[in-house]
Amino acid sequence: MKKITIVGAGRVGESTAHNLAKHEICREVMLIDIKEGMPQGAALDIQESSPIYDFDTKLSGSNDLKDLVGSEMVVITAGVPRKPGMSRSDVLETNLAVLYGIVDEVLKHAPKAMLLVVSNPVDVLTYAAWKRSGFKRSHVFGMAGVLDSARMASFVALETGFSVKDVNAMVLGGHGDSMVPMTRFTTINGIPIEHFLSKEQIDKIVKRTREGGAEILSLRKTASAYDAPGAAVTSMIDAISHNRRHILPAVAVLDGEYGLNDICMGVPCVFGEQGMEKVIELPLIPQEATEFKRSADAVRTDLVKLKK
Ligand code: LAC
Repeated sequence: MKKITIVGAGRVGESTAHNLAKHEICREVMLIDIKEGMPQGAALDIQESSPIYDFDTKLSGSNDLKDLVGSEMVVITAGVPRKPGMSRSDVLETNLAVLYGIVDEVLKHAPKAMLLVVSNPVDVLTYAAWKRSGFKRSHVFGMAGVLDSARMASFVALETGFSVKDVNAMVLGGHGDSMVPMTRFTTINGIPIEHFLSKEQIDKIVKRTREGGAEILSLRKTASAYDAPGAAVTSMIDAISHNRRHILPAVAVLDGEYGLNDICMGVPCVFGEQGMEKVIELPLIPQEATEFKRSADAVRTDLVKLKK
């Protein structure tokens, strides 16, 4: 890719910019934020690491959304983060207004761009970005499943003591308390985790995964997670820019898959040069289907607020 813009130069935006540059996923990273000097400072700081990490990616910062002009990908991390005790839905109203402002500028200056939504509540904001932009669904998606699955894989590796490289975890559903860690599809080198872990251990991992974002926030108190989220966004863009056709769980617009329409939530998707190329529909067992439906209902509660 030539140019990727990240709107929101907070911690997630900055971490994403650094990862994109370090892995030379594009020629140019533009960081945009309303705070004067902040995106410029972040861009320069990362640029100065280029001789050490040996990358050619150029970084710049701006306070003007027009500078997203010509981007092939616009990552949206802007908005207010939640504070300890808040749910991701509590920041919907504020972040929705911010998102609409960004999407409108994308329509003017980069109408062919793909939109990758990171701001919360991510399922609802991805839906809002899709509706507002009128883009095809392959060009609008959100980051949550890669992060939630990475958290789950980390916990499985820590609990079993096995290499995390052997762990494949999968978390679907909405990015909230109702997310659905799919233990049946979580394996260690192809071996189901039940072979190594008791039901109690697995339940503990599921709970910790669901509360993964809140755990980091309660420890840091003034900041949510940003290192793992930045890595997760980067892996999605890497799959697209290298046309890897990588299967990753992500927030996608559903068009009949899983019996759902007119909603966005976390499902396994194929990512390649066309963006979110395909939703993979897994046959769910009754318990998974119940949890998935509960998660969809939770997302719909917020979607209704959007339509008011
Ligand atoms: C988290 C935020 C990014 O899960 O929602 O940490």
